[in-house]
Amino acid sequence: MRDAAPQTIYLKDYTPFGFDVTSVALTFDLHPTATRVTSRIAFAPKPGAAPEMFLHGENLTLISAHIDGVAVTPDVTPEGLTCPVPDTPFIWETEVEIDPQGNTALEGLYMSGGMYCTQCEAEGFRKITYYPDRPDVMSTFNVTVNGPHPVLLSNGNPVTATDGHAEWHDPWPKPAYLFALVAGDLVAHPGEFTTQSGRKVALNLYVRPGDEGKCAFGMQALKDSMTWDEQVYGREYDLDIFNIVAVDDFNMGAMENKGLNIFNSSAVLASPETSTDSNFERIEAIIAHEYFHNWTGNRITCRDWFQLCLKEGLTVYRDSQFTSDMRSTPVKRISDVIDLRGRQFPEDQGPLSHPVRPESFQEINNFYTATVYDKGAEVIGMLRRLVGKQAYDAALTLYFDRHDGQACTIEDWLQVFEDATGRDLSQFKRWYSQAGTPTVTVTDSWTSGVYTLTFTQDLPPSATTPTPQPQVIPIVTGLLSPSGDELLPSQVLELTDRTQSFTFEGLPERPIPSVLRGFSAPVVLKHDLAEDHTAFLLAHDTDPFNRWEAGRDLARASLRSMIREGAAPDAKYLDGLRAVLADETLDPAYRALMLGLPSQSDLARALHDDGVTPDPDAIWTASETMRDAQADHFADLLPGLYTAHQVQGSYAPDADQAGQRSLANATLSLLARREGPDRAQAQYNSADNMTQQLAALAVLLRQNAGDAALHAFENQWAHDRLVMDKWFGLQVMQATPETVVKIAENLTQHDDFNWKNPNRFRAVMGALATHHAGFHHASGAGYRLLADWLIKLDPVNPQTTARMCAVFQTWTRYDTDRQTRVAAQLDRILALPDLSRDTTEMLTRIRGS
Ligand code: BES
Ligand code: ZN
Repeated sequence: MRDAAPQTIYLKDYTPFGFDVTSVALTFDLHPTATRVTSRIAFAPKPGAAPEMFLHGENLTLISAHIDGVAVTPDVTPEGLTCPVPDTPFIWETEVEIDPQGNTALEGLYMSGGMYCTQCEAEGFRKITYYPDRPDVMSTFNVTVNGPHPVLLSNGNPVTATDGHAEWHDPWPKPAYLFALVAGDLVAHPGEFTTQSGRKVALNLYVRPGDEGKCAFGMQALKDSMTWDEQVYGREYDLDIFNIVAVDDFNMGAMENKGLNIFNSSAVLASPETSTDSNFERIEAIIAHEYFHNWTGNRITCRDWFQLCLKEGLTVYRDSQFTSDMRSTPVKRISDVIDLRGRQFPEDQGPLSHPVRPESFQEINNFYTATVYDKGAEVIGMLRRLVGKQAYDAALTLYFDRHDGQACTIEDWLQVFEDATGRDLSQFKRWYSQAGTPTVTVTDSWTSGVYTLTFTQDLPPSATTPTPQPQVIPIVTGLLSPSGDELLPSQVLELTDRTQSFTFEGLPERPIPSVLRGFSAPVVLKHDLAEDHTAFLLAHDTDPFNRWEAGRDLARASLRSMIREGAAPDAKYLDGLRAVLADETLDPAYRALMLGLPSQSDLARALHDDGVTPDPDAIWTASETMRDAQADHFADLLPGLYTAHQVQGSYAPDADQAGQRSLANATLSLLARREGPDRAQAQYNSADNMTQQLAALAVLLRQNAGDAALHAFENQWAHDRLVMDKWFGLQVMQATPETVVKIAENLTQHDDFNWKNPNRFRAVMGALATHHAGFHHASGAGYRLLADWLIKLDPVNPQTTARMCAVFQTWTRYDTDRQTRVAAQLDRILALPDLSRDTTEMLTRIRGS
C-alpha cells in the first residue's frame, strides 16, 4: 500500500546508527511459503545511544523477540520495529516468517524456477529479518541453511555441509545489502584460481541442470578478472571460495554479494550457438564488474546510499579499463560514449536530472541511474587524466590502505587524491554536486604565428543546480598540420574558468585542432571551426576516437539538414566514410562502428537542442534515406567487404573474430537494401552461431522476408529462454513505425510471454520503447500499450516497472499533440490508488507540474 505522503530522505540528515553490530548469526528453515528466519545479533550501544532501538523490517511476520534471553514485545509498524534496549552490550534474537514464493518483487528472499535466491541491495535485507538495514552497519555473519536441496549456499567460507544442512562463515565485516543465500537443485561448473600470494581459491558457477554447457566462458572471464585486478590494482581475492549463481528471474544484471555473486542468467550463461558476440562481451564485463566490487564496494563500502557512485562509478570505471585491456581500447571507448549519449545525456538534460551524488531521494532503487554509474565513471576517468596515471595509482593504493573495512564517502575518496597529489580538488568536487551536461564551445585564431584556442563552458541551471559554477574540464587536445601530421601530440588542457584561452607558439603553420580527444570529459562540444574541419579530421585524425567522432558529426549534421531542409545526404560524409571503409589497415570493428548512424533519439535530442521540435517520422525517413545512400555509395565495395570478413575456422568470441562479424553483418544489412534478402537467407541457413543467425534474421525481418526464418527460429529455440528473449525482442526492433505497436501487442498474447519475468517483459516492452518512431507514433498507441503493461506489472514488480518509466523522460521534447497523449497515460498511471512508491516517484518527477 502506498504511503500517504512519500518520505524524502536527505543527505544532510545523515546520522550514524547508535549501536555497533558485533556479530550476526542467522538460521533459515526453508519453506516455499513459510520460511522461518532466526536471528541472533550482538549489539553494543555506542556512547550516548538512545534507550530504544529501531530495526528495519518489511513484510515480516514476527514470531518472537528476545533480548538476552528475555521475551520482549516491540512496537511493530510496516517499516520496522522499535524496542527498549539495555545501555550495555546485548543479544537480540528474533524469529520471523516470510513467504519467498509470494515475493514477486524479486527483492529479499524469493523463488525463481524452483530455487531460492536473494537480492538485498539496496534495502532488501529488511524483507528477510529485522535489522539496521543501512550500509554503514557492518558485521561478520554466520549463516545456517536447512532445506531439502542439494545445494545450500551463503556468503564467505563453508563450515559444514551435510544433507539438507549447511553452515557458512563470512569473516569479513559487511553491510546487510551484501548478504546472499541460494538453495536449489543446481549443478556446479568448477574452477580453481591461485592468487598472487599462492592461496588457492575454489571457483564455482552454479546453474540449473541443462545449462552446464553455457559455463565455460563465464568461468574464464572470472579468472581473467581475478588476474587483472592483481596485476593492475594489486588486489587479491580474500576468501577460500568464490561462487556465482545464475538465476532466471532477476531485476538487474548481477549482484556482488560477498563470495556469492548472483547473476541474471542472461548476464553469465553463454555458448556460441545461443549467444551473440555482444552477449559474450557484456558477460565478460559484468563478471569483471561484480568481481571488482570485492574491493571497490565490499571491502570498502558506502556510508549511505547517497555515496552510491563511490562504489558503482569506480567499479564501472574499473570494468571499462578491463574491457579496454582485454579487447580494443578505441572500440570500447566509442561504445561507452554511444551509451553515455544514449542514456546519460537524456537523463542529465531532462526531468530526472540529478548530480552524480544526489542529495535527496524517495526510493533509492530509482537512483541506480546512468548518471550515478556512467557519469560517475567518467568523473573518475577525468580525475585520472588530471592527476596522471602514476598519481592515480598512488591514490588508489592509499585508498585501499586507509579505508579497508570502512563505509566511506566521496569526501574520503577525494581526500585520498588530495593527500596523494597535494592538489586542491574543491573545484573538481563540483562534478559530484552539480547536475547537467556542460556545453563547451571552442573557437580558434592564428595571429602573427601564435595559435590560440578559446574555450567557454556553460552549464544550464536546473532544479538541483540552480546556480551552476564552472567545473574543471580536462580537454585533451592535439594539433595537426594541413597534411595530417601531428604538430603537437595530445596534451591535457585544463579548463577551469568559464572562458579561457590557450596559446601555442613556434608552429610552422596554422594547425588544425583535434579537441576533446578520447572524449576526455562528458560534455557537449560545439565549435565554429572551418567548414571542412570535420571532414579533414575524418580523413586524418591520429586519435581514433576523434576520427570516429568526426564521422558522427558529419552524419548528424547531414541528417539534420535532410530533416530540416529536405537536403540530400552529404557527399563529403559519404566520401570520407568510403575511404575509412576501404582502409584495410583499420580494425574491422572500428569500421563497423564508423558505419553506424546516430540513434534516432539522439537526433531528436540534437534537434531539440537547436530549438526544433523533433518529428519522429521525419527522423525515421531521413535515417532510412541515409542508409540507402550508404548502400548506393558503397555498392561496389560492399560485396568484397562481406566476403573478405567471413570468419574462417571455428567460432571464438574474441575481439578479432567479433570485429570481422560485425563489419560483415553491417555490410549485409546495407547489401540487402539493394539486392533483397537472398544473401541474408543464405547466411541464416548456414549459420552455426547465434551472431550470424540473429544478424541474418534481423535483415530478413527488415526486408519483410522473415516469416519462414522466424518460425524456424522459434521451433529451434523454444526450449531456451534466453534465446527466446531475442526472438521476442528482435521482431519489435526490426518492425516499421506503422507495424511495431501491433507486433508488440501480439507478442504479449503469445503463450511464452511470461511478463512476470523481467527479461521477457523487457524484451518486448523495452524494445517497443526504444523503437523511436514506433513508440512515438502519432496515434499514441505506443504510449498506451506501454502504460497498460506498466499498470499490470507495478503491483507485481515495482522496481522493474519504475525503471521502465524512464523511457517517458524525454516526452516534453515532442509536439503538443504527442505531449497531450503522453500526459494522459502518465496521469492514468498516477491515478492508481495503490501505485508503488518506486513508480510514483519516477512518474511524478517525469510528469512535472
Ligand atoms: N550492485 C549492482 C546491482 C544492483 C543494482 C543491485 C541496483 C540493486 C539495485 C551491480 O554491481 C551492478 O551494478 N550491476 C549492473 C551491471 C554492471 C556491469 C554495471 C546491472 O545489474 O545492470
Ligand atoms: Zn556495480
